[in-house]
Amino acid sequence: MATLLKVDSSPMGDHSISRKLTAQFAASWRKAHPGGEVISRDLTRTDLPPVNGVWVGAAYTPEDARSRDQREALAASDTLIAELERADEYVFGVPMHNFSIPSTLKLWIDQVARAGKTFSYGADGPKGLLTGKKATLLIASGGVYEHGTAMAPLNFVTPYLKAVFGFIGVTDVTIISAEGTAQLMSGKVDRQTFLAPSLEKVQSHASL
Ligand SMILES: Cc1cc2nc3c(=O)[nH]c(=O)nc-3n(C[C@H](O)[C@H](O)[C@H](O)COP(=O)(O)O)c2cc1C
Repeated sequence: MATLLKVDSSPMGDHSISRKLTAQFAASWRKAHPGGEVISRDLTRTDLPPVNGVWVGAAYTPEDARSRDQREALAASDTLIAELERADEYVFGVPMHNFSIPSTLKLWIDQVARAGKTFSYGADGPKGLLTGKKATLLIASGGVYEHGTAMAPLNFVTPYLKAVFGFIGVTDVTIISAEGTAQLMSGKVDRQTFLAPSLEKVQSHASL
Protein backbone atom coordinates (compact mmCIF):
# COMPACT_ATOMS: atom_id res chain seq x y z
CA MET A 1 0.00 0.00 0.00
CA ALA A 2 1.34 3.45 -0.94
CA THR A 3 2.11 5.55 2.12
CA LEU A 4 2.63 9.31 2.37
CA LEU A 5 4.24 11.00 5.36
CA LYS A 6 3.02 14.61 5.70
CA VAL A 7 5.03 16.81 8.05
CA ASP A 8 3.88 20.32 9.01
CA SER A 9 5.86 22.84 11.00
CA SER A 10 4.09 26.19 10.65
CA PRO A 11 2.83 27.62 13.95
CA MET A 12 0.22 29.70 12.06
CA GLY A 13 -2.63 27.17 11.97
CA ASP A 14 -5.39 28.09 9.51
CA HIS A 15 -3.48 31.21 8.43
CA SER A 16 -0.50 29.15 7.30
CA ILE A 17 0.36 29.07 3.60
CA SER A 18 2.58 25.97 3.85
CA ARG A 19 -0.20 24.05 5.65
CA LYS A 20 -2.65 24.97 2.91
CA LEU A 21 -0.20 23.55 0.36
CA THR A 22 0.46 20.30 2.26
CA ALA A 23 -3.31 19.82 2.68
CA GLN A 24 -3.76 20.23 -1.09
CA PHE A 25 -0.88 17.83 -1.71
CA ALA A 26 -2.40 15.18 0.59
CA ALA A 27 -5.87 15.56 -1.01
CA SER A 28 -4.47 15.20 -4.54
CA TRP A 29 -2.20 12.35 -3.48
CA ARG A 30 -5.15 10.46 -1.95
CA LYS A 31 -7.06 10.75 -5.23
CA ALA A 32 -4.06 9.42 -7.15
CA HIS A 33 -3.48 6.59 -4.65
CA PRO A 34 -6.86 5.08 -3.73
CA GLY A 35 -6.49 3.06 -0.53
CA GLY A 36 -3.17 4.74 0.25
CA GLU A 37 -2.28 5.74 3.80
CA VAL A 38 -1.36 9.25 4.96
CA ILE A 39 0.66 9.60 8.17
CA SER A 40 0.35 13.15 9.55
CA ARG A 41 3.07 14.53 11.78
CA ASP A 42 2.46 18.03 13.14
CA LEU A 43 5.68 19.31 14.66
CA THR A 44 3.88 22.09 16.53
CA ARG A 45 2.07 19.36 18.46
CA THR A 46 5.05 17.05 18.93
CA ASP A 47 7.15 17.68 22.00
CA LEU A 48 10.66 16.90 20.80
CA PRO A 49 13.59 17.34 23.16
CA PRO A 50 16.95 18.55 21.84
CA VAL A 51 19.49 15.74 21.59
CA ASN A 52 21.69 15.50 24.67
CA GLY A 53 24.68 13.43 25.81
CA VAL A 54 22.54 10.44 26.79
CA TRP A 55 20.92 10.45 23.32
CA VAL A 56 24.29 10.55 21.54
CA GLY A 57 25.76 7.81 23.76
CA ALA A 58 22.64 5.68 23.20
CA ALA A 59 22.77 6.10 19.43
CA TYR A 60 26.32 4.73 19.39
CA THR A 61 25.57 1.84 21.80
CA PRO A 62 24.46 -1.45 20.21
CA GLU A 63 20.69 -1.86 20.57
CA ASP A 64 20.87 -4.95 22.79
CA ALA A 65 23.35 -3.26 25.16
CA ARG A 66 21.35 -0.07 25.79
CA SER A 67 20.28 0.85 29.32
CA ARG A 68 16.68 1.79 30.10
CA ASP A 69 17.64 5.50 30.14
CA GLN A 70 19.29 5.14 26.77
CA ARG A 71 16.25 3.38 25.28
CA GLU A 72 14.01 6.12 26.64
CA ALA A 73 16.30 8.81 25.20
CA LEU A 74 15.90 7.29 21.73
CA ALA A 75 12.14 6.63 21.93
CA ALA A 76 11.07 9.74 19.99
CA SER A 77 13.78 9.17 17.40
CA ASP A 78 12.64 5.54 16.95
CA THR A 79 9.03 6.66 16.36
CA LEU A 80 9.96 9.36 13.84
CA ILE A 81 12.39 7.13 11.95
CA ALA A 82 9.75 4.36 11.79
CA GLU A 83 7.42 6.88 10.07
CA LEU A 84 10.12 7.71 7.52
CA GLU A 85 10.80 4.02 6.88
CA ARG A 86 7.12 3.13 6.54
CA ALA A 87 6.30 5.86 4.01
CA ASP A 88 7.48 5.74 0.41
CA GLU A 89 6.82 9.41 -0.16
CA TYR A 90 7.13 12.53 1.98
CA VAL A 91 5.64 16.02 1.85
CA PHE A 92 6.94 18.77 4.12
CA GLY A 93 5.37 22.17 4.77
CA VAL A 94 8.21 24.53 5.60
CA PRO A 95 7.76 28.17 6.63
CA MET A 96 10.95 30.24 6.34
CA HIS A 97 11.89 31.52 9.78
CA ASN A 98 14.83 33.89 10.05
CA PHE A 99 16.19 32.77 6.68
CA SER A 100 16.18 29.16 7.81
CA ILE A 101 13.76 26.47 9.00
CA PRO A 102 11.55 26.59 12.13
CA SER A 103 13.28 25.29 15.25
CA THR A 104 10.69 22.50 15.53
CA LEU A 105 11.80 21.12 12.17
CA LYS A 106 15.46 21.34 13.24
CA LEU A 107 14.62 19.30 16.35
CA TRP A 108 12.96 16.72 14.07
CA ILE A 109 16.07 16.58 11.83
CA ASP A 110 18.33 16.07 14.85
CA GLN A 111 16.12 13.17 15.97
CA VAL A 112 16.03 11.41 12.60
CA ALA A 113 19.65 11.85 11.47
CA ARG A 114 20.96 8.80 13.29
CA ALA A 115 24.03 6.68 12.56
CA GLY A 116 23.16 3.10 11.70
CA LYS A 117 19.49 3.96 11.10
CA THR A 118 19.30 6.72 8.46
CA PHE A 119 22.98 7.07 7.51
CA SER A 120 26.23 5.20 7.91
CA TYR A 121 29.89 6.02 7.48
CA GLY A 122 31.97 3.67 5.37
CA ALA A 123 35.22 3.70 3.43
CA ASP A 124 33.57 5.92 0.81
CA GLY A 125 32.27 8.46 3.36
CA PRO A 126 28.67 8.96 4.47
CA LYS A 127 25.93 6.85 2.94
CA GLY A 128 22.20 7.62 3.27
CA LEU A 129 20.07 4.64 4.22
CA LEU A 130 16.59 5.92 3.33
CA THR A 131 16.79 4.94 -0.31
CA GLY A 132 13.97 4.67 -2.87
CA LYS A 133 11.95 7.50 -1.26
CA LYS A 134 10.83 10.79 -2.75
CA ALA A 135 10.18 14.07 -1.00
CA THR A 136 8.32 17.26 -1.87
CA LEU A 137 9.17 20.39 0.09
CA LEU A 138 6.52 23.11 0.10
CA ILE A 139 8.26 26.26 1.28
CA ALA A 140 6.53 29.55 2.18
CA SER A 141 8.45 32.77 2.72
CA GLY A 142 7.46 36.35 3.35
CA GLY A 143 10.17 37.63 1.00
CA VAL A 144 11.22 36.64 -2.52
CA TYR A 145 14.56 34.85 -2.97
CA GLU A 146 14.65 34.44 -6.74
CA HIS A 147 17.89 33.17 -8.28
CA GLY A 148 20.22 36.01 -9.21
CA THR A 149 18.66 38.59 -6.85
CA ALA A 150 20.40 40.21 -3.87
CA MET A 151 18.06 38.23 -1.58
CA ALA A 152 18.90 34.82 -3.06
CA PRO A 153 22.00 34.10 -0.88
CA LEU A 154 19.87 34.63 2.24
CA ASN A 155 17.74 31.58 1.49
CA PHE A 156 19.31 28.92 3.71
CA VAL A 157 16.16 26.78 3.70
CA THR A 158 16.51 25.17 0.27
CA PRO A 159 20.25 24.30 0.28
CA TYR A 160 20.10 23.12 3.87
CA LEU A 161 17.11 20.82 3.41
CA LYS A 162 18.51 19.42 0.17
CA ALA A 163 21.77 18.62 2.01
CA VAL A 164 19.99 17.00 4.97
CA PHE A 165 17.67 14.86 2.84
CA GLY A 166 20.58 13.83 0.60
CA PHE A 167 22.61 12.89 3.68
CA ILE A 168 19.92 10.43 4.84
CA GLY A 169 19.52 9.01 1.32
CA VAL A 170 16.56 10.98 -0.04
CA THR A 171 17.86 12.41 -3.30
CA ASP A 172 14.57 12.62 -5.24
CA VAL A 173 13.51 16.02 -3.86
CA THR A 174 11.08 18.47 -5.49
CA ILE A 175 10.76 21.99 -4.17
CA ILE A 176 7.70 24.17 -4.70
CA SER A 177 8.02 27.62 -3.18
CA ALA A 178 5.32 30.16 -2.41
CA GLU A 179 7.40 33.31 -2.04
CA GLY A 180 6.30 36.80 -1.12
CA THR A 181 3.55 35.89 1.36
CA ALA A 182 4.20 39.29 3.02
CA GLN A 183 2.03 40.79 0.23
CA LEU A 184 -0.94 39.16 1.93
CA MET A 185 -0.31 41.15 5.11
CA SER A 186 -0.34 44.43 3.21
CA GLY A 187 -3.60 43.46 1.51
CA LYS A 188 -2.08 44.04 -1.96
CA VAL A 189 -3.19 40.58 -3.08
CA ASP A 190 -6.00 38.39 -1.82
CA ARG A 191 -5.16 34.95 -0.45
CA GLN A 192 -6.98 32.97 -3.13
CA THR A 193 -5.26 34.82 -6.00
CA PHE A 194 -1.88 34.47 -4.30
CA LEU A 195 -2.30 30.75 -3.63
CA ALA A 196 -3.76 29.72 -6.99
CA PRO A 197 -0.49 29.14 -8.96
CA SER A 198 1.18 27.25 -6.05
CA LEU A 199 -1.91 25.10 -5.46
CA GLU A 200 -2.00 24.21 -9.14
CA LYS A 201 1.68 23.17 -9.12
CA VAL A 202 1.17 21.13 -5.95
CA GLN A 203 -1.94 19.44 -7.32
CA SER A 204 -0.27 18.33 -10.53
CA HIS A 205 2.93 17.21 -8.78
CA ALA A 206 1.05 15.19 -6.14
CA SER A 207 -0.98 13.43 -8.83
CA LEU A 208 2.13 12.08 -10.62
C1 LIG B 1 9.25 33.91 13.37
C2 LIG B 1 9.16 34.26 11.92
C3 LIG B 1 10.31 34.50 11.20
C4 LIG B 1 10.23 34.80 9.85
N1 LIG B 1 11.38 35.01 9.14
C5 LIG B 1 11.32 35.25 7.82
C6 LIG B 1 12.52 35.42 7.06
O1 LIG B 1 13.63 35.35 7.54
N2 LIG B 1 12.39 35.67 5.74
C7 LIG B 1 11.18 35.74 5.11
O2 LIG B 1 11.15 35.92 3.89
N3 LIG B 1 10.04 35.58 5.82
C8 LIG B 1 10.09 35.34 7.13
N4 LIG B 1 8.93 35.15 7.85
C9 LIG B 1 7.64 35.17 7.13
C10 LIG B 1 7.21 33.75 6.80
O3 LIG B 1 8.19 33.08 6.04
C11 LIG B 1 5.90 33.77 6.04
O4 LIG B 1 4.92 34.32 6.90
C12 LIG B 1 5.45 32.42 5.54
O5 LIG B 1 4.18 32.56 4.96
C13 LIG B 1 5.46 31.39 6.65
O6 LIG B 1 4.83 30.17 6.27
P1 LIG B 1 3.40 29.79 6.90
O7 LIG B 1 2.43 30.78 6.32
O8 LIG B 1 3.16 28.41 6.45
O9 LIG B 1 3.54 29.91 8.40
C14 LIG B 1 8.98 34.86 9.20
C15 LIG B 1 7.81 34.60 9.94
C16 LIG B 1 7.89 34.30 11.27
C17 LIG B 1 6.63 34.03 12.05
